[in-house]
Amino acid sequence: MVAERGLREGAWFRSAVFYEIPVRSFYDSNGDGIGDLSGVTAKLDYLSELGVGAIWLLPFFRSAWRDEGYDIVDHYEIDPSLGTIEDLDRLVAEAHARGIRVLGDLVTNHVSIDHRWFQEARKDRASPYRNWFLWSDSGKEFSRTRVIFRDLEPSNWAWDDAAGQYYFHRFYATQPDLNYDEPAVRAEMFRVARFWLGHGLDGFRCDAVPYLFKREGTRCQSLPEVHQFFRELRAILDAEFPGTVLVAEANQSVPETVQYFGDGREFPMVMHFPLMPNLYLALAEQDPRRLRHVLQATLPAPPGCGWAYFLRNHDEVTLEQVSDDEREMFLWIYGRHPKTVLNGGVRRRLAPMLDGEDGNVVLMTALILSLPGAPFLYYGDEIGMGDRLDLPDRDGVRTPMQWTGEANAGFSTLPPERLLRPPVEDAPYAPAARNVADQRTRPDSLFHRIQELIRVRSAHVEEFGSEGLLAEDVRVPGVFAFWREQAPARVLCLYNLSRAAVSGSIPLSPELRAAPVPIAGEVALERSESTLRYSLLGRRFAWVRFVRPVLGAPNAPSAVSGSESG
Ligand code: GLC
Ligand code: CA
Repeated sequence: MVAERGLREGAWFRSAVFYEIPVRSFYDSNGDGIGDLSGVTAKLDYLSELGVGAIWLLPFFRSAWRDEGYDIVDHYEIDPSLGTIEDLDRLVAEAHARGIRVLGDLVTNHVSIDHRWFQEARKDRASPYRNWFLWSDSGKEFSRTRVIFRDLEPSNWAWDDAAGQYYFHRFYATQPDLNYDEPAVRAEMFRVARFWLGHGLDGFRCDAVPYLFKREGTRCQSLPEVHQFFRELRAILDAEFPGTVLVAEANQSVPETVQYFGDGREFPMVMHFPLMPNLYLALAEQDPRRLRHVLQATLPAPPGCGWAYFLRNHDEVTLEQVSDDEREMFLWIYGRHPKTVLNGGVRRRLAPMLDGEDGNVVLMTALILSLPGAPFLYYGDEIGMGDRLDLPDRDGVRTPMQWTGEANAGFSTLPPERLLRPPVEDAPYAPAARNVADQRTRPDSLFHRIQELIRVRSAHVEEFGSEGLLAEDVRVPGVFAFWREQAPARVLCLYNLSRAAVSGSIPLSPELRAAPVPIAGEVALERSESTLRYSLLGRRFAWVRFVRPVLGAPNAPSAVSGSESG
């Protein structure tokens, strides 16, 4: 399977590159205009070629499809539009045969309004399902709870005629929240997790984790009971499905987010929401200082854990974790078009946010590939796909994967107007301009540049899979530098966020006697006895490797530090 040399048992996830797939948008295997599970299977060789070690599939359960599958109607069935349980089993088997792990999406907070549990609950106060949801006569409780889809929903309570009461919903009104104070709800979710792990899934990205429990007078997020629930889930995974992983989607402040690792007893991986908007801000400011601060506050992750880094996903770029001033700056730079802003965030793809320049995409991708933890790539970003601002909600970043230059992007056998969502039309990003078939044939394409980054990261997985980093205070404006180490090797990661060419020098400790070997990026190096002089063009990066004589035991753990020491 995935290379695991030098890695702690069970921490395979720090060596893998993850790839997020909205199944309906990836590949349509049966010509009905909707991407499906067999479509993902058909494209596994492509993912292998790219170097992906794990895929995360957006929800594939029976759904009402008012929120891209996050509104489940039956947790134990595959949605018929996506295939059958046999299709999933085949996908998992074929992925495993290629050394690719498969994560599902565990949606615990809510169900679809069409779910049988809610249907039973709303029509009968005496139903055992009534207590599976949260009801109110006034709709005034939990008033400190913020509305997440604030452009789309006026309140967290919705009136239901059939029930004769209000019910609570943290997201769309078509997604009533479950009541986690009801023991049967907790038991049911454990059953759901076991069911899909039993079908060979390697774990879950866990949706909307902070919100499961509600308590009057609080903001109803990250309550101790939430952590307790996920620790119990984690214990089930460890005992019954060793080697599986849970990834938390917890879009919170630094101190609140860090808690989801639970000192190594809760989530092995936590999405790095606090870092994400700062990556874009640092690039715009041409100044990495904010990255150093966030990383200093969040590294290292507890032993055996790892951060999950991402630049984009299937939602908008959320700006909840930055200050008002930073948000204003972010929107000024990345959200000028009024149609880009949704729920206070930016609903754009990576390439259009980065001026369509491959060099910027490579720089930012290299950065998240080199931080301690694992990168999550969003489908299509490896070919610089664009978006469609004319589509509603977040659909504009979920358009058909562009496999070929045909008008339907080679996504399906149907013409574009019969697809679930139309492909991008904007000329520089249209299928004719950006597609897999073309980029595969061009050695200098974005696809090949990203593939090469992944190859190099995998080839040096001991260093890149280690647990911490050593920051290097270079004092050259625009330059971000740190070391990744696993004895006997060290990789110097250098990023020039500024548009200008820069050069500087880094003192080398006496044990770094070996010659520096640039393993990725573009850099000019000059080595003297005790320093390394480097020159980088604007928005370029380099990974430079040194092998030093073994000091101490060959498998000594890497130095772990979030400090500014070199
Ligand atoms: C998460 C998902 C988002 C979904 C929401 C409700 O934030 O990423 O797509 O709409 O949860 O399930
Ligand atoms: Ca289909």
